[in-house]
Amino acid sequence: MARVVVTRRLPDGGLDPLLAAGHDVETNEADEPRSAEELRAAAADADAIVCLLTDRIDAAVLAAGAGRLRVVANVAVGFDNIDLGVAARAGVAVCNTPGVLDETVADLAFLLILAASRLASDAEVDLRDGAWPGLGILQYLGRDVHGATLGLVGYGRIARAVARRASGFGMQLLHHARHDTGNPGYVGDLDRLLAESDVVSLHVPLTPDTHHLLDARRLALLRPTAVLVNTARGPVVDEEALAVALERGALFAAGLDVYEHEPQVHPRLLAAPRTVLLPHIGSASQATRTRMARLACEGVVAVLAGERPRNLVTAEGAP
Ligand code: GLV
Repeated sequence: MARVVVTRRLPDGGLDPLLAAGHDVETNEADEPRSAEELRAAAADADAIVCLLTDRIDAAVLAAGAGRLRVVANVAVGFDNIDLGVAARAGVAVCNTPGVLDETVADLAFLLILAASRLASDAEVDLRDGAWPGLGILQYLGRDVHGATLGLVGYGRIARAVARRASGFGMQLLHHARHDTGNPGYVGDLDRLLAESDVVSLHVPLTPDTHHLLDARRLALLRPTAVLVNTARGPVVDEEALAVALERGALFAAGLDVYEHEPQVHPRLLAAPRTVLLPHIGSASQATRTRMARLACEGVVAVLAGERPRNLVTAEGAP
């Protein structure tokens, strides 16, 4: 029987794989995020950690787990909160939750595409504030989504799920990825994709290469009528530069689910016009979050049983 620390509360049924395997599971029913010190203490006394994006599994946490910790499973598909290189050197396996959240995140990306294009948040805020004087032919004039050109930045599973939805809306599709995908609509030059899209939706992981991928220079390439949607990671966009661009009308609207310094949101973004802001709920459906929790826990069970889990994350360049 191994000791598994689960850093936050998980959906009902999420822990079942660990319990079925008979592991000793420490949970966090209060669901308070653990401090760095608490994470180090937990790692020192665990064979496995099941964590969320809010937990930084850095070199200090991994060092605290040295000798005992065998696996860290992130209840997320992204893993930029975990130092993969240090984990690999320490012989700690890392698992994530690929494949179970693509459709749910794509639904949310499409929600943001529609809501931002049609100025849904500004209109609803006015209505709730009693500032709607009644229907007017010139009010809240948005951009049509049907027939528009969608530029996908990144072309993994979630981007392709967004593309499927976009086809149903009669959108033209472009996509950019580091390597030629061989699929119709591939644009090797990101700058060109930004300049030619009516809607740009971001679907890249956060890495040193994608940090501020959309900086002030690239944001300036967007059409003044363009809509930018980010369901990937906040730091992929320079938030300050985006807020300035929205204030100046350099793009039409933005829909964001992720932020550079969560849970803080840049005050200029909070005040920016034509902006739909959601609190990182991309994968937040009951069914998907349950599937994610179970898959993370299945990864732990496999590693502790000496097996290679199907959701193992390997450091770049590893076999
Ligand atoms: C959420 O952001 C995830 O990576 O699953």
